[in-house]
Amino acid sequence: MGIVLKNISYQYKDQWQEEKQYAIRDASFLLEKGEYAALIGHSGSGKSTLLQHLNGLLQPMTGEYYFDGENVFDGKFALQKLRQKVALCFQYPEYQLFEETVLKDITFGPKNLGFDQKTCEEKARKAMELVGISSKLENASPFALSGGQKRRVALAGILAMEPEYLILDEPVAGLDGKGKENLFSLLRYLNEEKKITILLVSHDMDDVAANARRVLVMNHGQLVMDDTTENVFAREKELKAMGLDIPQALQFYNNLRSRGYFKSISETTQEDDAATVDAVQITEKHFGKTVSGGEKQAGAVVNEKRPMETVQAERSEKHTGAVVNEKKTVETVQIERSGKVPLTVEALAARILEENQCFGK
Ligand SMILES: Nc1ncnc2c1ncn2[C@@H]1O[C@H](COP(=O)(O)OP(=O)(O)OP(=O)(O)O)[C@@H](O)[C@H]1O
Ligand SMILES: [Mg+2]
Repeated sequence: MGIVLKNISYQYKDQWQEEKQYAIRDASFLLEKGEYAALIGHSGSGKSTLLQHLNGLLQPMTGEYYFDGENVFDGKFALQKLRQKVALCFQYPEYQLFEETVLKDITFGPKNLGFDQKTCEEKARKAMELVGISSKLENASPFALSGGQKRRVALAGILAMEPEYLILDEPVAGLDGKGKENLFSLLRYLNEEKKITILLVSHDMDDVAANARRVLVMNHGQLVMDDTTENVFAREKELKAMGLDIPQALQFYNNLRSRGYFKSISETTQEDDAATVDAVQITEKHFGKTVSGGEKQAGAVVNEKRPMETVQAERSEKHTGAVVNEKKTVETVQIERSGKVPLTVEALAARILEENQCFGK
């Protein structure tokens, strides 16, 4: 069931007079339990506005929001319940720390939910352990901590409420390399082990590609793409037109390929048939069903204008026993989203090595 937004639109008050200026326009999507998705888009495209709808901070002017099948804005739904289940972590959450001690700050959320002191402290200590804040810091002032530690304390305050959905707006902004990696591995752990659903806003396409299994793209208030990470980043031209980049590792891979360093499966001819089958087998091993070389992997939609690719897709389809549909079913997309993240630097390096062994010059 999860989070369902149906055709929501939102205008800020001072935008009322300008009919065209919607911060969000007719956005619909479904976020299911267990997903790890990213929301990307140019500055001012409406990402933060959309996130604030998800825990009920903003109410859409038109459209509906269903949480686990219940209409959030029907006047009967308890927003408090929603805020416990859907936690929103703003950019620079440490600015919201305000208590005298770390422990008091982290217990603030559970206290608000009505838990007794002992339970609040238990929840707080569990959350501190999760984010790697030593118990020695319990009585320290949050303001005496480093930036990275403050960020973790703020996140612990959110996790102490044991949310099912964690919505993060630019969570690694301002962190150093190590702090960033720590935070991303925590998010991976929360998603994979604790089954917390994650929706992440980021301007860093490398971070998105290495972590999210699904990517939503906003452009001028509209949701314009919603697909697997691999399929979204295969649409480089459209992304560039919206002022967005693709991950650097993928750019490197595409550059090598366009300079003929190795051939992609779609560029091979009948004579290369045997080699192609090998490549399909190899890439399938790493990335699942292959449609067109490195360009579109893992269940990509086959483009009718490219017959050679279609032939290759059919071949790989037979090989895997999977069905390549022109239109993806919801089921297919869900299976894809549950797969491994395909665009890490390591995965692309493996792809380069293996394709080069097949077609090497
Ligand atoms: N409080 C506000 N009052 C009026 N307009 C606002 C307000 N907050 C945002 N906006 C406008 O709404 C639109 C969407 O803003 P939003 O902050 O959601 O974008 P964003 O995608 O999060 O951008 P960024 O990547 O820079 O954080 C922008 O045109 C912005 O100027
Ligand atoms: Mg924003």
